[in-house]
Amino acid sequence: MKETAWKSPSNIALVKYWGKYDVQIPANPSISFTLSEAATTTKLRYEEGTGTIKVFLDGKETPSFLPKIEAFLERTAEFFPFAKEMNFEIHTSNSFPHSSGIASSASGMSALALCMMSVKKDLGLPITNFFEEASNAARLGSGSGSRSLYGPLAAWGEHAEIEGSSNEFAVAFSDVHDIFKSFQDTILLVDKGEKTVSSTVGHGLMNGHPYAAARFEQAHENQSALLTAMLEGDLERFGAIVESEALTLHGMMMTSMPYFILMKPNTLEVINRIWSFRQQTGNPVFFTLDAGANVHVLYPESHKEVIMSFIDSELRTFCKDGSYLCDAVGLGPTQL
Ligand code: DP6
Repeated sequence: MKETAWKSPSNIALVKYWGKYDVQIPANPSISFTLSEAATTTKLRYEEGTGTIKVFLDGKETPSFLPKIEAFLERTAEFFPFAKEMNFEIHTSNSFPHSSGIASSASGMSALALCMMSVKKDLGLPITNFFEEASNAARLGSGSGSRSLYGPLAAWGEHAEIEGSSNEFAVAFSDVHDIFKSFQDTILLVDKGEKTVSSTVGHGLMNGHPYAAARFEQAHENQSALLTAMLEGDLERFGAIVESEALTLHGMMMTSMPYFILMKPNTLEVINRIWSFRQQTGNPVFFTLDAGANVHVLYPESHKEVIMSFIDSELRTFCKDGSYLCDAVGLGPTQL
């Protein structure tokens, strides 16, 4: 068998993708920091064959991953028509613990999409733009995965002020003040459990949601305002938009039918402490949330020491087993 391998990162959205239609078309534009530490490494072994697939997580055969991979290959048949005439062995591992509550779909699907693109290249099939096609394929596996292909930031979904932006693939975005190119993201593991709401169910909650239209409109506006704030290095404005986006995401979940509260009491403790600390000390420290209870603490690299000591003395106690992951803005995938 031949082989190809890629390491692809996770990302954290600043303007949130929440709601989609047709096949993986986002209801609103989103933009994210690409991370540097949280990543999936995937080695794809391939040979001519009959479409058999074996998948291994951390060296252990894991057939429970097969349905997702098969669905991915079906959806991406237009990009990888050769898949049915090959046998694959997929060896994958994540840099973050499985039980951490960190979603592996963005990094996992982007790593797999990149491996498939490398196979396509090896077969001599025409490719116009390797990363754009990889992002498009990753999107079909996981919407947020489309944004893992580039750093330091990536934007997915048509937006008036981002040239070349598309609903089908993400584009690299680096038109920001230098302070954002080395931003830190310390991920506080408030709750390590499995997600209570799968992203499919979550996005589905936006269908027929009474506030959906206003939310989709707001995302466009927030993205515009965020682009200006990031270009100017306006940390205060950046923080206000990013925190509002996080709370809006959770607000949409609380006001859908059925409704969900994905924050835990400790999520709120952490948020309140970040606010008090910021008010009392003037330090630029902000939070964002995924569709879960963990808190991403965002701050400039120049304030690492003071923020890390704040996290250790005041926030760590709200984390499961005192655990957090230190991450930062990264530059995107690497071929191994
Ligand atoms: C809250 O990309 O996981 O993290 O397209 O169904 O795979 P699927 O959804 P997914 O949704 C991510 C939602 C979010 C916000 C974001 O990353 O933009």
